[in-house]
Amino acid sequence: MFQQSYVVRAAIIGAVALVAACSNPGQSGGSNSSSASSALSAASTYQTIVDAQGNISKPKDFTTRWSHIGSWGIVNENGEGNGIHSVYTTPDVIAYFKENGAYPDGAVLIKEVRAAEGADLTTGRAHWATDPQVWFVMVKDTQGRFPGNPLWGEGWGWALFKADAPDVQVATDYQADCLGCHVPVQDADWVYTFAYPELATAAAKSASTAGGMASMSDGGETIAKPEFTSSGAVKMPVDWRKWIYVGTPLTPNALNGGAAPFPEFHNVYIEQSAYRYFQKTGEFAEGTQIAKELTLVRQSENGNDATNGSSGEVSGQGYFQGEFQGLELAYKDNARYPDEPGGWVYFSFGHKAEPYEKTAEAFPTEACNSCHEVNAATDFTFTQFYPVLRAAQNGN
Ligand code: HEC
Ligand code: HEC
Repeated sequence: MFQQSYVVRAAIIGAVALVAACSNPGQSGGSNSSSASSALSAASTYQTIVDAQGNISKPKDFTTRWSHIGSWGIVNENGEGNGIHSVYTTPDVIAYFKENGAYPDGAVLIKEVRAAEGADLTTGRAHWATDPQVWFVMVKDTQGRFPGNPLWGEGWGWALFKADAPDVQVATDYQADCLGCHVPVQDADWVYTFAYPELATAAAKSASTAGGMASMSDGGETIAKPEFTSSGAVKMPVDWRKWIYVGTPLTPNALNGGAAPFPEFHNVYIEQSAYRYFQKTGEFAEGTQIAKELTLVRQSENGNDATNGSSGEVSGQGYFQGEFQGLELAYKDNARYPDEPGGWVYFSFGHKAEPYEKTAEAFPTEACNSCHEVNAATDFTFTQFYPVLRAAQNGN
């Protein structure tokens, strides 16, 4: 392990003096178009500091060529310097973040920890950085490139280098070595962005349109998000049948050449906190989850009509629900999926009887998102088919 006791102690003492960040123009590699700059980060990162197995090496020359985005000063109870942490990223990442409020694929953050000295100077008790001790590196990965690699997860690669062998990566498991301490900023994509002045405004803005942490401050909702595995697969929701039911489109197999693309009843539910947010604002919050559970047409003891699949029951001729036949999830999260239009991503836990799959990988954009983008009435969601959401849009 690295000097955890040192950092823990510093975090507990918590006397954090923020040294103002200066945005150093560094190399002007930035591009105006956010998607172009995102592509730039990803390409150069995965060519230069990450190899094909996901091993991360320490960026070269970052102190002189990258932008310094902020510093943390850790001071002990006697006012002695304990450490100065300086954080750097590349200019294209800053440009992308200012526009989108999220870190692009390939973004690299490096925190250099130096020892500090303190003395009474003419300004007062002052501290300054001395020798480097440790470097922490995070590499953004929106693609789940390295499933099963213990240094990749939660949308990032995590790495650690120490002064005695500054080019040797020494972290072994991000969950044990890193994650616990970053939980307080889980909703901010695991980064302490609030302390980086160039980025903090964009972060606050995206959080307030996004629900999540900032929606609490405007009297809104904390949106319940799904859980993910360390390789980036989503975990099946547990209680979707207790969410708010919004409607049931019906595409009987018998009316669709014997095999409807989504057989047959589609029972759609929205997670409760996302529903409340939608009812208040008419918009889907960041973190919205909508489940669609497929259910077959009931096979009646009275027989089903061969041409349309309907059956005659006590209430009349029509369609009645039989067995469950599959589960899908739509999820909106621009921070986790900055490259998906609208931040919407789609999963299937199987088109089959229960038990469903416990986890699911995101579909490519063309498989699901593209049809939703073009045809759905409200923000990729087919509210035109959901009377409960239409009512909510009208304040009911
Ligand atoms: C003892 C708690 C702790 C551990 C363990 C820890 N971090 Fe952090 N990390 C923090 C805190 C707190 C900050 C911001 C404040 C500071 O530096 O004092 C931070 C900041 C960072 C930053 C700067 C960007 C940001 O999130 O603000 C990077 C990069 C980083 N950590 C990477 C890592 C990696 C990689 C590991 C594992 C090898 C790791 N950290 C382990 C607590 C921790
Ligand atoms: C050809 C267009 C089309 C494609 C492709 C498509 N969907 Fe949909 N999707 C719909 C329609 C239409 C609805 C409205 C409800 C219904 O008819 O089932 C819907 C509704 C949904 C819903 C309920 C939330 C909402 O947005 O209304 C989920 C979840 C969903 N689809 C998942 C998926 C998944 C997963 C895929 C990719 C495997 C996918 N969809 C591909 C047309 C499509």
